[in-house]
Amino acid sequence: MAGLFITLEGGDGSGKSTQSRILVEWLEQSGRTVVVSREPGGTDLGLELREIVLHRRGEIAPRAEALIYAADRAHNIATKVRPALERGDIVVQDRYLDSSVAYQGAGRVLGGDEVREVSLWATEGLLPDLTVLLDLHEDAGKGRLADSRTRYDRLEAEATEFHGRVRAGYLELAAVEPERFLVLDARDTVEAISDAIRARVEALLSN
Ligand code: TMP
Repeated sequence: MAGLFITLEGGDGSGKSTQSRILVEWLEQSGRTVVVSREPGGTDLGLELREIVLHRRGEIAPRAEALIYAADRAHNIATKVRPALERGDIVVQDRYLDSSVAYQGAGRVLGGDEVREVSLWATEGLLPDLTVLLDLHEDAGKGRLADSRTRYDRLEAEATEFHGRVRAGYLELAAVEPERFLVLDARDTVEAISDAIRARVEALLSN
């Protein structure tokens, strides 16, 4: 596939959206065609699934939750991301399968390997060229969200312990695939983080 698939990962409140916006602006200014997506909710169907998985009142069984994220992912990849990559575009996406492994696998304790397998089946095995992990201590994430939110979604509302497992799950993933992951400290300045991301993307583009 000719394009480049870049994903941003990290706990809630780690600054992914800010960094995604800066990266997209820079890529567009350098004359690249960029497709922006996110999970859950990168497509019309995804928006409906996002509403269910994040804001439904009442219980969603952990495996059902994992499958809703996988359904969103399958549709996003098939109808939006793969066509963009085939055209040679750059896809910048907020969250991807690593979110499922960290939140459902480690957070909900479903088992990372199985959750990853489900996602790989859903996406016919598509892995990003680069995954930026904005690493933030679970207490700091909640503090940052509290500044910007009036209501938490179902995942954000989970206990600090849950978010600690999510963070550990992410770091484990990054340790297993160091060539795909760029791990950055989310407490650094916005500028230091965006410079580091830009340097890595420039290197990928010149390959
Ligand atoms: P966000 O789009 O505002 O980051 O929120 C999405 C929430 O959904 C966030 O708390 C992480 C969670 N999530 C999962 O639990 N599993 C997944 O596979 C994805 C993509 C997100």
